[in-house]
Amino acid sequence: MRCVVTGCAGFVGSTLSEYLLAAGYEVLGIDSFVDYYPRRIKEANLERARSFAKFAFVETDLQSASLEELFGGAESIFHLAAQAGVRASWGDDFRIYTGNNILASQRVLEAARSSRVKETLKKIVYASSSSVYGHAETLPTIETLRPQPISPYGVSKLAAEHLMVLYTKEFGVPTASLRYFTVYGPRQRPDMAFHRFIKAGLLGEPIELYDDGEQSRDFTFINDAVAATAAAANAQTPGVVCNIGGGSRVTINEVIREIGDILGSPLKVRRQARQSGDAKHTSADTSLAAREFGYKPQVALKEGLRAEAVWIEEMLKCGVLD
Ligand SMILES: NC(=O)c1ccc[n+]([C@@H]2O[C@H](COP(=O)([O-])OP(=O)(O)OC[C@H]3O[C@@H](n4cnc5c(N)ncnc54)[C@H](O)[C@@H]3O)[C@@H](O)[C@H]2O)c1
Repeated sequence: MRCVVTGCAGFVGSTLSEYLLAAGYEVLGIDSFVDYYPRRIKEANLERARSFAKFAFVETDLQSASLEELFGGAESIFHLAAQAGVRASWGDDFRIYTGNNILASQRVLEAARSSRVKETLKKIVYASSSSVYGHAETLPTIETLRPQPISPYGVSKLAAEHLMVLYTKEFGVPTASLRYFTVYGPRQRPDMAFHRFIKAGLLGEPIELYDDGEQSRDFTFINDAVAATAAAANAQTPGVVCNIGGGSRVTINEVIREIGDILGSPLKVRRQARQSGDAKHTSADTSLAAREFGYKPQVALKEGLRAEAVWIEEMLKCGVLD
C-alpha cells in the first residue's frame, strides 16, 4: 500500500503523512519548500514523518519533476501542494499561483493518466477550498451552488478542481476533490488568523483584526480534515467534489473571546479595514462527504483551539516560531 502526498511539508500535508504512516501505508512525500513561510517551520512539521521507516521524501517542484517516475506503483495520490493564501494572490504574484496551483495540478493529472501510473492508481484526492464559493448565496452551502470565487487564489483552486473533474470524465482518471473550510490546529500556517491571534496573545501583543469581527467561518480541526482526506480515497462517485467543514459556524469575535479564555486574559484588538478577497461568511453542508465516505467532524472549536495553543507555545519555546 503505497501513497504519495504532495505538499507533505505543509500544515495539512505533514499531518496527513503521519496519519497514513501510522495506518501502515508507505508514503512518498513531495515538497519544494516554497517560501510563502519559513522553511524551518516546514522542516519541523516533517520531523515526525521522517522518523518512520516507510517514509521517503523528495524535495522537488511539481512543475518540473518526473512525476510518472515518482507516482509509479502508488495506490493513492493526495495532492495538497499549493501556493496558499488569499491576500497575497493579487497583483504580480498571481503568476506563482497559476504555476503552483494550476499548472502543477495539470502535470499531476497528466502523469496520472500515463499507463505506468494508471495501473495501480485508485484515487487522486485533491485539496480544494471553500474559497471557490466567494460570498456564497446560501448557507450552509451545498456543492452544486455555482462557485463564484472573489480572490485570484480561489480562482486558481477552482481551475485545478475543474481539471480534476475534466480528467475523470475525459480519461477516467479517478479523482475526488475536497473543499476544505478553514482548517486550524497544530501546525496551522503562520499567516492564518488563529495562529496570529494565539501567538500575539501568548506574547502579550495586540492582534490585527480585519473588518468588524462579525464575519463568520466554518472552522475544521486538522484531525477531521486529515481523516476526511484519507477516507476520500474510498469515495464512490468518480470526480466527486465534497465540502469538508467542522460542523458549526462561529464569528471571529467569538473566536477572539474563546482564545482569551484559553490564554487566561482577553486579546488586545487593533481593528483594520476589510481585506479584498475575504468572504463574509462560510458554512459547509457536509452531507455529501458523509454519504460518499462517512465523514463526520469530531472536534469542537474549544478543544481544537487548546491543541493549537499548546503547539504554538511549544514552537515559541524551541525557537521554531519567533
Ligand atoms: N489550511 C487551510 O485552511 C486550507 C483551506 C482550504 C484549502 N486548503 C488547501 O489545502 C492544501 C494544504 O494547505 P496548507 O494550509 O497545508 O498549506 P501549506 O502552505 O502549509 O502547504 C502547502 C505545501 O505545498 C508546497 N508546494 C507548493 N507548491 C509546490 C510545488 N509546485 N511543488 C511541490 N511542493 C509545492 C509548499 O512548499 C507547502 O509546504 C492546499 O492545497 C490549500 O490550498 C487549505
